[in-house]
Amino acid sequence: MRRIIIAGNWKMNKTIEESVSFGLCIKKMFYGKPEVILFPPFTAIKALSDALYDSDVGVGAQNMHFESTGAFTGEISPVMVKNAGANYVLIGHSERRHIFGEDDELINKKMIAAAGSELTPILCVGETFYERQNNLTEEVIERQIKVGLSEINYSKNVIIAYEPVWAIGTGANATPEQASKVHQFIREIISSMYGVGSGDEITVLYGGSVKPENIEELAKMEDIDGGLVGGASLRCDTFVLMWKKLKSVKIC
Ligand code: PGA
Repeated sequence: MRRIIIAGNWKMNKTIEESVSFGLCIKKMFYGKPEVILFPPFTAIKALSDALYDSDVGVGAQNMHFESTGAFTGEISPVMVKNAGANYVLIGHSERRHIFGEDDELINKKMIAAAGSELTPILCVGETFYERQNNLTEEVIERQIKVGLSEINYSKNVIIAYEPVWAIGTGANATPEQASKVHQFIREIISSMYGVGSGDEITVLYGGSVKPENIEELAKMEDIDGGLVGGASLRCDTFVLMWKKLKSVKIC
C-alpha cells in the first residue's frame, strides 16, 4: 500500500543532544499521518529512537555496510543499526554514490542485507545534470532500479526516493512535472519487474531542495507520495510546517 511520508535526512549534522531536542519537539507537534521518518547520524540513532519510543515517528540510518560483522574498519552493520533502534535505512543516497564511489552492485548488496535484517530500505536514485542534459535520465534510473533491486523479492513496502543529483542541496528543485514524469517511469519499471499493478503500489518519494515553499505543489502530483528532505529538515518548526502542508494536500 502506498504510504505518505515526510523523511528528514540530517546528513552529517546534529549531536546527540541536538537530535534528542529535535525528537522531543517533533513528538509534541506531530500526530497521525503523514508518517515521519528521521535519519540522524549513526551516533544519535539510539538516543533519538529512545526519545521517540512512544511515538509513531520512525528512525533510520543514512547508510550501512552489507555484512553483519567483520574486519571492516569504520563501517556499521545492519545488525548494529537495528540494535541501536533504527527500522529504516537509506541506501544509495547520491552523496554515497558520488562522494564515496558506491556503485549499483554495492548498493544491491546493501539492499539485500537490509531486506534480510528487517530494515525497510529507501532506495535512492537520480540522474546528474549532465545525464539529464544528454537525455540519459531514464536509462540511468532504469539501471539504478533494476540493479539495485536485483534478487529482491517484490514487497509492497519497497520505498524509492527519486532525488535528481542536480537538485540536492542546490535550492533548484525539479518542477512537479519533471519529478512526476520520473515517478511514473519508476512505477513502470517496477511493474515490468514485478508484474502489472505493482508499480502503483509502491511508495515513491521526491527529494532535492524540498522546502516549505514548494512541498505543496510537488505533493499535488498524484505520483509523488511525499518527500525526502535534507537541508530544510534540520529545523523542527520548518519540518513541522512541511509536514502540515503535505498533510493538507494528501490526507485532508
Ligand atoms: P536537500 O537534500 O533537501 O538538502 O536538497 C535532500 C537529500 O539529500 O536527501
